[in-house]
Amino acid sequence: MLQLREVSVDFRTEGGMFRAVDRIDLALAKGEVRGLVGESGSGKSQVLYALMGLLAENGRASGVADFQGQNLLGLSPAALDQLRGRRIAMIFQDPMTALNPYQRVGDQLAEVLRHLPRAEAWERAVAMLDRVKIPDAAARARRFPHEFSGGMRQRVMIAMALLAEPDLLLADEPTTALDVTIQAQILDLLAELAEETSTAILLVTHDLGVVARLCDTVTVLYGGRVMEEAAADALFSDPRHPYARGLLAATPRIKAPLTPRMATIPGTPRAGAAALQGCPFAPRCTLVTDRCRTETPPLVRTGARALACHEVAP
Ligand SMILES: Nc1ncnc2c1ncn2[C@@H]1O[C@H](COP(=O)(O)OP(=O)(O)OP(=O)(O)O)[C@@H](O)[C@H]1O
Ligand SMILES: [Mg+2]
Repeated sequence: MLQLREVSVDFRTEGGMFRAVDRIDLALAKGEVRGLVGESGSGKSQVLYALMGLLAENGRASGVADFQGQNLLGLSPAALDQLRGRRIAMIFQDPMTALNPYQRVGDQLAEVLRHLPRAEAWERAVAMLDRVKIPDAAARARRFPHEFSGGMRQRVMIAMALLAEPDLLLADEPTTALDVTIQAQILDLLAELAEETSTAILLVTHDLGVVARLCDTVTVLYGGRVMEEAAADALFSDPRHPYARGLLAATPRIKAPLTPRMATIPGTPRAGAAALQGCPFAPRCTLVTDRCRTETPPLVRTGARALACHEVAP
């Protein structure tokens, strides 16, 4: 249902052009839950923003993102608007980007269902607030976003995305701001929804525990490029790319958050467009050869796995 071909994101900066996402290929089937992982700055959010037409004003996306036969990267703002919030929903890192501070939460949710009679839309909105564990949902629905805690606002935004029963849900660190118990409940709810409505989910996360809990497949990004792609269990049991191996080795328990451990991969993340030649991971890779520094390894597919590395066989 979603197929990205050679999607790139370039930013105009004072120092020249900066390529944040470099020719990535990625596919998502109906009902599939795919994790998009990689350390800070690897380009995860920009992939989602490109798909939603929400790149910063100095950014430009190129390539093809075929969604049910339409290229999302070539749509007019009006056509994208038609898709957003109905066939495609997005959950952001910051809930206030999605919520209107001046409108009651229940009204904002009911608006997603404006094709239904008002009373029914309201009822379904309250039921969804209840499902995302907002206590006393019926009363809370009459409140404004600023009357909610940060974690609750996050859940309201998730409720809004789920109410639309979209074909595609783009989620950027949807549960990072929530405490661990609620996080687990919300993840289970997302999984349930994906199951029930065959919603495909592209889920950006730092947290391999989240991937283990929710995702069927994983794409590992580094420096804006896909390093490896595999079924989630295959990646966990047998990561091939040196970066993916480092990522997993740095996570002693799958349930542990990944971010604080990333420092154990030696070297610093790529900066600038300098790495466009060669493998972006080359400066930090233990298996690096001269070829890695000059020749970008293509993403080679073998069965369900894809790998971009000169040195490791798929
Ligand atoms: N408007 C912009 N202008 C220039 N560079 C930008 C802009 N927005 C993002 N970038 C750069 O693009 C790269 C990818 O950013 P992105 O937000 O996708 O990272 P991320 O993988 O989502 O990281 P995080 O996990 O921290 O959210 C980063 O190097 C970032 O600095
Ligand atoms: Mg991000």
